[in-house]
Amino acid sequence: MPVPLRTIPPDTTPFDATSTAAEVIAGVDLRGKRAVVTGGASGIGLETACALARAGADVTLAVRNLAQGRRAVDDIGRPNVRAARLDLADQSSIAAFVAQWQGPLHILVNNAGVMATPELRTAEGWEMQFATNHLGHFALSLGLHDALAQAHGARVVVVSSVGHLNGEVLFDDLNFEHHPYDPWAAYSQSKTANVLFTVEAAKRWAPDAITVNALTPGRIRTGLMRHLASQPTAPPARFQADNPDISYKSVEQGAATSVLLAASPMVEGVTGRYFADNNEAEAQQPSIRLGVADYAVDAENAARLWQVSLDLIAAAHAHASSAATADATDTDTAAAAAAAAITATSTSTQDPQQKEESL
Ligand SMILES: NC(=O)c1ccc[n+]([C@@H]2O[C@H](COP(=O)([O-])OP(=O)(O)OC[C@H]3O[C@@H](n4cnc5c(N)ncnc54)[C@H](OP(=O)(O)O)[C@@H]3O)[C@@H](O)[C@H]2O)c1
Repeated sequence: MPVPLRTIPPDTTPFDATSTAAEVIAGVDLRGKRAVVTGGASGIGLETACALARAGADVTLAVRNLAQGRRAVDDIGRPNVRAARLDLADQSSIAAFVAQWQGPLHILVNNAGVMATPELRTAEGWEMQFATNHLGHFALSLGLHDALAQAHGARVVVVSSVGHLNGEVLFDDLNFEHHPYDPWAAYSQSKTANVLFTVEAAKRWAPDAITVNALTPGRIRTGLMRHLASQPTAPPARFQADNPDISYKSVEQGAATSVLLAASPMVEGVTGRYFADNNEAEAQQPSIRLGVADYAVDAENAARLWQVSLDLIAAAHAHASSAATADATDTDTAAAAAAAAITATSTSTQDPQQKEESL
C-alpha cells in the first residue's frame, strides 16, 4: 500500500534537543516488531537499541566485533536482544548478514559510522568513510529490501550528521584518487550521501510501504572521535573536546531522534526527510550550520548517487564471484554464495528498472 508523502510542519512533535530516547518512545509498544541497529554495540547505536528493546522489539545489534556485541547484549540484559556480525566495509560480510536474515524486518537503523579516519581503503579500493558510512549501508538496505517490504510499514532510519553541511558528494573523485585525501571532506561526502540515499530510497520504496528518513543526532561524546588524535593537523574547532563554546548532548539525548523516527506514531508515514532535535529540519540558510543543505536533498544528485553506488557494488560482487570461480577456497566460496544471496534478495514488486537494480 502506498505511503502518503507529507512534510510535517516545524515543531510538530513536542520534543527538542533536550529530549531523551526514553521520552520520545514512552508509551510505544514494539512487541512483535523486529529491528536491526548497525553499530549497536556502542554510542548512539547502543542507546537506540536499548530504547527499542525496552519498548518490546526484537533487536539485532549488527556489529563488526562480535565479542563487543555480545558484551553489549549482556549489558542490555534482555532476552529480546542478540548480536550478529556485520562489517560494513566488507561486502561479503554484508552479503552473509543478509543471507542469514529470515522473515520481515520492521526497523532498520543505519547508524554505524567512522569519522575523519586516516587514509584507508577497502579491498575494492573504496575510500573507507564513503565505503562504511554510505556504500555499506546502501548494500545492506538493498539486500534487506524484501524483508522490509514484508513488514508492511517498515521504517529505515539513516544517521547522517550536521557534518554533511561541509561538502557535497565528489562525483568526479569519490575515492580521492585524483585529489589529496582530506579526512573531513571524506566524512562530509559520506554524510551527504546518507541524506541522498534517504531521498532516493524514500521515492523508490514508497510503494512497498517503506519509509526512509535521515537525521543528525547532535554532538555527543562517543568513540566517533577516536581518529582525531592521529590527525596531522588539529581538528576543526567544532570538534575540539576542550572548546568551551561547544555543548554536548548526552547519549540518551543523542539517540532520541533515531528512536523517534524508528518508532514514534508522530512520524507515521513521513518519508524522505531530514530531522534534527526530534523535528524535521529546515533548509540551511547561507553560512549558518543548521538545517539540511540543498545539494543533499537534490533529486538529481540522489538518482545519480543511487546509480553510481549500484554500479560499484555490482562490480565488487562480480569480481568476488569470478575470483571464487577461479580459485574456490572455502572463504571465496562462502563470499560468492553470500553475494549471490544478496543478488537474489531484492526488489520484487517494482518496475523492470528496479528489478535490474537487484544486487
Ligand atoms: N557522536 C556525534 O557527535 C555524532 C554527530 C553526528 C553524527 N554522528 C553519527 O552517529 C553515528 C553513530 O556514531 P557514535 O557517535 O555513536 O560513534 P561510535 O560510538 O563510534 O559508534 C559508531 C559505531 O559504528 C561501528 N562501525 C564502524 N565501522 C564499522 C564497520 N565497518 N562495520 C560495522 N560497524 C562499524 C563502530 O564499531 P566499532 O566499535 O567496532 O568500531 C561503532 O559501534 C555515526 O554514523 C556518526 O557519523 C555522531
